[in-house]
Amino acid sequence: MKIMMVCLGNICRSPIAHGILQDKIEKLQLPWAVDSCGTSSWHTGERPDSRSIEVALKNDINIADQRAQNFDITMFEEYDHILVMDSNNHKDLMKLAKSEAAKRKVSLLMNYAFPEQNRQVPDPYYEGGFDVVFEMIEQAINEFIATHT
Ligand code: 4NP
Repeated sequence: MKIMMVCLGNICRSPIAHGILQDKIEKLQLPWAVDSCGTSSWHTGERPDSRSIEVALKNDINIADQRAQNFDITMFEEYDHILVMDSNNHKDLMKLAKSEAAKRKVSLLMNYAFPEQNRQVPDPYYEGGFDVVFEMIEQAINEFIATHT
């Protein structure tokens, strides 16, 4: 199973989600692959925000080798689950999806922890709050794994 984590810049939230799921895939030896990307190309090629690298490291996860990439419509075919951080990401991908099958692959990550509540992972780029963001994402990923194993 292939999972794509998506946010706006691919430097704050989705790299954390990518790192957490990668770590759990390895520890649980799941036959899965995870990657991350942004709906914008603003930070393409950059490493994650230093605050994301730091909060991940505090939790023994190294995300410093990740590099930002932009979402590409071929990802609708390549990935089984496309997990987005907020409703703007969701809206942006819905505009790009050409089929119902593609649309069905996209879900708000937090709905795994809080079904149908459409909670958002807040964008910490300007406001901060990386610790809370890390915890929220980890909680939802634990439920994602529980649902799919
Ligand atoms: P992310 O956070 O979507 O979690 O990576 C952001 C990163 C950069 C910007 C906005 C959000 N930006 O405006 O450059």
